[in-house]
Amino acid sequence: MKMFLMNTYNRFPVTLVYGKGSWVYDINGKAYLDFTSGIAVNVLGHSHPELVKAIKDQAEKLIHCSNLYWNLPQMELAELLSKNTFGGKVFFANTGTEANEAAIKIARKYGKMKSEKKFKILSARNSFHGRTLGSLTATGQPKYQKPFEPLVPGFDYFEFNNIEDLRKKVSDEVCAIFLEPIQGESGIIPATKEFLEEARRLCDEYDILLVFDEVQCGMGRTGKLFAYQKYGVTPDILTVAKGLGGGVPIGSGRCKRKGKRAGAGRSRHHVRRKSARMQSRCHGDERADEGRFSGRSGQEGKVPSGKTFQNERKVQRGGRCSWYGIDDRDSIFRCGEQKCCNEVL
Ligand SMILES: Cc1ncc(COP(=O)(O)O)c(C=O)c1O
Repeated sequence: MKMFLMNTYNRFPVTLVYGKGSWVYDINGKAYLDFTSGIAVNVLGHSHPELVKAIKDQAEKLIHCSNLYWNLPQMELAELLSKNTFGGKVFFANTGTEANEAAIKIARKYGKMKSEKKFKILSARNSFHGRTLGSLTATGQPKYQKPFEPLVPGFDYFEFNNIEDLRKKVSDEVCAIFLEPIQGESGIIPATKEFLEEARRLCDEYDILLVFDEVQCGMGRTGKLFAYQKYGVTPDILTVAKGLGGGVPIGSGRCKRKGKRAGAGRSRHHVRRKSARMQSRCHGDERADEGRFSGRSGQEGKVPSGKTFQNERKVQRGGRCSWYGIDDRDSIFRCGEQKCCNEVL
């Protein structure tokens, strides 16, 4: 039967049949202690009774409906994720690579709103962001990229944890910086706090979206729900997958309102959402303002254009000063000229 499967991985000569907790069992009943956990997927172990129950319960009710309709598990999980990170809205996908594709598209569209030239995306050498074409291009590893060239244009790479190199690559043409707070694929290599802080600072200075890919290091694997919470450096977009579903495929991108509302290729499976919701027994509420902008926040008022707004931000850059607000339709606008990005993707 193996002959019918494409040869995408070098597999071990073991055929697994079931698992319980940290153990998996092969076709001959031989037990193995599972140190792989599906590469950071089975964060509750195998066949966790609550996870199994959540999947079963939901499968008996509704496995699938399209995004033409609302459904409760989707909304509840989005709320959990938003309230336990930095607020903002959630886009659901099926995998980590799709979550990163969404982040790429949000960043490109955000950049385009500013300038036709603002489309460059920077990521770290030896990073891993997935295998679809955009995420593969962001993945700074030629060994994965070579067979699929030409890749997506507009990407460049910096050396991880090298502040000088990052500074050299940043310009007004950059719309996003992608980073894993802890690189996974290339060994477990944590970013230094100084490096993440400098990335944050540069993003603020150049109006760049900071994207943290926590597909592998997120979901409680560092002791906090997400690794960025340990560093105290908040991204604009957070991508999460793998452990979020505990084995059921799911991906999500959380985005601050700066570049909001992703819309294409959504995942619609409630079973995933339900199991992911179960996974998200989240730690404290970290919705507080991230301090990204100077000026007041979280207040209601009027911008100079006379438009009512909430959560306005004042951005000081290069001597210029602009007001950003979020109106009652959740649209982002800039002082005077409404810049609605309701259809980011
Ligand atoms: C950091 C990181 N990002 C993205 C991905 C891609 O996730 P997926 O395999 O769910 O597409 C991975 C997978 O290993 C990963 O480690």
